[in-house]
Amino acid sequence: MSNNLIKEFENIIESGSRDEFLLRQIDPKRLPAHIAIIMDGNGRWAARRSLPRVAGHRAGAESVRATVESSARLSIPYLTLYAFSTENWKRPRLEVEALMGLLREFLRKEIRSLKENNIRFQTIGREEGLEPAVRREIDRARRETAMKTGTLLTVALNYSGRSELVEACRRLVMEWLATGRDPSELTEADVERHLFTAGLPDPDLLIRTSGEMRVSNFLLWQIAYSEVYVTDTLWPDFRRADLFEAITEFQKRERRYGDVKPVEKGSLSVANMK
Ligand code: FPP
Repeated sequence: MSNNLIKEFENIIESGSRDEFLLRQIDPKRLPAHIAIIMDGNGRWAARRSLPRVAGHRAGAESVRATVESSARLSIPYLTLYAFSTENWKRPRLEVEALMGLLREFLRKEIRSLKENNIRFQTIGREEGLEPAVRREIDRARRETAMKTGTLLTVALNYSGRSELVEACRRLVMEWLATGRDPSELTEADVERHLFTAGLPDPDLLIRTSGEMRVSNFLLWQIAYSEVYVTDTLWPDFRRADLFEAITEFQKRERRYGDVKPVEKGSLSVANMK
């Protein structure tokens, strides 16, 4: 059944390898449409090797490359990566500069591969808070991939879920004041229209690396019904096989969105209560 997927990774994964074994477990008909990832553990990865934190981020950028490429091969429609939170500005200046440098380098080096893999690129977050050199690179990647129709890669930069919600509230207040509508008319769809992620479906699967059980201010509204998968693997070690494992685990979950299983519904029907 997974033959189509195997074909997508032909000449890339070895026959009989663990990657192939895991890929064969994936049901191509039930892939998550949107995968969001909290990439954590770069610092610990570096510390374990007595390397500076920046070395962990550099290795993490390689995991980004691998994960983006694998998601495109799997035809995952949406991939959203948490690269820099509004809280990350508190880190030492040199680390912040290194992270911004890595992002620019990634965009410069990977733009060709993004295009070849039919990937569209965008960011979410307060872009105006980023330095001009980073913004120029983001703008170029966004423009050059604007017509691509495969995976939409969204990188969260200078992002936090709470600030996104505050921004949405501001815009809603302005809209309501301008149109004189009654507050009771406000719906969830109105809020969604004003989020940075407007137009994207909510994540089906939220992956967090390095074992921490936190959501760290990421997509707070959007992950209401996401399946959460936490792995102990540190982000710089996260590779194709880890993505396949997360997807396999996701496919084992039963999503009910607050409802009960249809069979349980039957057992609660009035006829059965007699
Ligand atoms: C968390 O690890 C990771 C980050 C804050 C940054 C993520 C950035 C990258 C993976 C590199 C560049 C990104 C792109 C999109 C090319 P941490 O430093 O908090 O790790 P720790 O908890 O072990 O200290």
